Amino acid sequence: MVRHEDIARARATVAVIGGSGALGFGLSLRWAIAGTPIIIGSRDAGRATEAAARVAERAREGGASDPRVDGLQNEEAASGANTVVLAVPFRNQSETLANLRGALQPQTVLVDTTVPLAAAIGGRATRTLGVWQGSAAQQAEEMVPRAVTVVSALHTVSAAALSDPSIEMDEDVLVAGDDRKSKDDVSDLIRRIPGLRPVDCGDLERARILEQITPLLISINARHKIKHSGIRITGLDSP
Ligand SMILES: NC(=O)c1ccc[n+]([C@@H]2O[C@H](COP(=O)([O-])OP(=O)(O)OC[C@H]3O[C@@H](n4cnc5c(N)ncnc54)[C@H](OP(=O)(O)O)[C@@H]3O)[C@@H](O)[C@H]2O)c1
Repeated sequence: MVRHEDIARARATVAVIGGSGALGFGLSLRWAIAGTPIIIGSRDAGRATEAAARVAERAREGGASDPRVDGLQNEEAASGANTVVLAVPFRNQSETLANLRGALQPQTVLVDTTVPLAAAIGGRATRTLGVWQGSAAQQAEEMVPRAVTVVSALHTVSAAALSDPSIEMDEDVLVAGDDRKSKDDVSDLIRRIPGLRPVDCGDLERARILEQITPLLISINARHKIKHSGIRITGLDSP
């Protein structure tokens, strides 16, 4: 029998697939500091546990009194949360989603952060690959069960900046998706990281444009010898 506490916990918890990696670690750390229960997902249970311990330790250093961070294999992590953040390289996105297909619960929101950088096949990080479906997020949508919604977000936030809580984030996060409620939920999650402002950009097909901004920022970083360029949309009333 499914217990009410289990359902409530799954609703509040965020699973981060690829949480042992650069972006997944940084997001997990910031959310853990904000008090969000996190499950780090990895292909390897030991690596997940080790990353979870590191996130918890860094979160305590960052001011969290009792960070709730677990580490599990990807499938178990995904089945234990209603929000699943996918933070793996583009070349591993479809394989990872194929493995998660049976684990993703109905009504789960999958947050796709994938950027189809040409670097995935040995090309330049300032270029992207063409994706038949239009974007990595639309490829993800094609692969998840029907009752799972995909929201595309977080492509332009620097993993290195997120991983250093002494750095104050100060930028917008472009969000795209077909389901308004799912986008609102993901936007609330983004707002939990101080300094990040979510901006709803429209339907999931907008991801085709969103995913192209990352290589632009990589190029700007290189040209201006900076580490963490981000983007800001002007003219919006919301703080
Ligand atoms: N880095 C950034 O600043 C940044 C910013 C915005 C968006 N992104 C996007 O976020 C995604 C993750 O980027 P990242 O820099 O965090 O990547 P990463 O550190 O290279 O890898 C993330 C995780 O993916 C898993 N992974 C690696 N190889 C795999 C494979 N062969 N099969 C399945 N899983 C594998 C690994 O987890 P386990 O080995 O533990 O399973 C790894 O820790 C990418 O799509 C990237 O474009 C990155």
